[in-house]
Amino acid sequence: MDNKDQVLVTSASLSVNANQAKALIVLQGTEGPSAIDVRTLYANQGILTYDPGFRSTASCKSAITYIDGAQGILRYRGYPIEELAKHSTFTEVAYLLMFGELPKTGELSAFTTSVNEYNLLHDQVLSFYRGFRRDAHPMAVMVSVVAALSAFYQDSQDYNIPEQRVKAATRLFAKMPAIAAASYTYSIGRPFRYPDNSLDYSSNFLQMLFGKPNTPYAVDPVLAKAMDLLLILHADHEQNASTSTVRMAASSGANPFACVAAGIATLWGPAHGGANEAVLKMLEEIAIPENIPQAIARAKDKNDPFRLMGFGHRVYKSHDPRAAIIRDTTKSVLRHLKMENDPLMMVALELERLALNDEYFIAKQLYPNVDFYSGILLKDMGFPSRMFTALFAVSRTAGWASHWLELKAEKGAAINRPQQLYVGPNLRHL
Ligand code: CMC
Repeated sequence: MDNKDQVLVTSASLSVNANQAKALIVLQGTEGPSAIDVRTLYANQGILTYDPGFRSTASCKSAITYIDGAQGILRYRGYPIEELAKHSTFTEVAYLLMFGELPKTGELSAFTTSVNEYNLLHDQVLSFYRGFRRDAHPMAVMVSVVAALSAFYQDSQDYNIPEQRVKAATRLFAKMPAIAAASYTYSIGRPFRYPDNSLDYSSNFLQMLFGKPNTPYAVDPVLAKAMDLLLILHADHEQNASTSTVRMAASSGANPFACVAAGIATLWGPAHGGANEAVLKMLEEIAIPENIPQAIARAKDKNDPFRLMGFGHRVYKSHDPRAAIIRDTTKSVLRHLKMENDPLMMVALELERLALNDEYFIAKQLYPNVDFYSGILLKDMGFPSRMFTALFAVSRTAGWASHWLELKAEKGAAINRPQQLYVGPNLRHL
């Protein structure tokens, strides 16, 4: 979207200290709330807006993902997440996010060919892993390995050229499963596995994670489908903390691999991508349904830092549309694995039921989010909890790459450089 696509719906005015009000432009996107354009505010009126946490600030224009938090709507490039989850593969969704349209047959096969060409890791990249302790968190390894990719690929580092940008974005998307899988196999002392181009993206990821050199690995199609679904659901979420970080880094012209490494670092936090790991830990601590009322009481206690992990969201104030899809998939995968009596699933279902009927959670509009059931699903699929966020990073790379492409294509994009409200000492002398 460029400036001509913005519709001026009205103008706003702001008067400061009874000075004459100055008119400000109000911009309207295609959907969602309009935004007061304050870009000239400081220059014209010498005053700043203050919005730590960006609760009321649109940091950019974007045409990739639309969320209506009040109604529980999530769309990629206009398509409802429920439809994409049902009818598309992750590779198609990644193409949609990156290039704006779902791929036609020829486009999909050309994209798949590129992904298959780039999905191997350089042998020297694999040697980086050996510098890490075996007990390193996979996210620590991934941050480093992805940043290190900046030192490779001298053939495509002029990001003013669209083809080179597409090459870098496709490389990131293609290599991330191997990077994540290697961080896992290294941690358990198993040899690295190479991608197998006869498999689709998610099946390939599973065989690199769980295949052993001494046994043929047959991908379970139910698990591959569940993995593909998880990747679709986590692929993008507009200006979340990690995506904003990628855009912030990209605004300085940084290399895309370094930008995505910054995104991975941000994703690692427990308030963002680390939440499903934290959900599983919480469910294990609760252990039995009888302990749930105490956990709920703790979550409501202002003097206790404990929160119900997997509950609440910055933008969804009715329901997170991804949560219900994951809950249903978790139920069917657990049935397939004959694990439907998983005690943690029993605790999770009961915890959800009680919290949704509790005054506190109702009043604060706290609903299960995407992370509430995904930890159980991943655990029962064989993932150790430390890999959960790594998997999220594989998926979100599609979104990060798309936002990086969008930002790089924007004409005249400025470096992201927020102002501050200084609250330190006034001038003083030694
Ligand atoms: N349990 C108990 N109380 C909560 C919870 C929770 N999970 N989440 C929010 N609250 C309360 C909070 O204490 C605050 O109360 P008060 O108004 O009395 O101070 C109020 O609800 C608003 O919370 P907030 O922290 O100001 O809201 P936020 O929009 O800044 O935070 C959140 C959103 C997701 C960080 C938060 O809900 C949370 O910490 N949830 C648990 C962690 C979690 O599940 N994170 C995954 C997010 S979804 C993944 C993604 O999309 O990246």
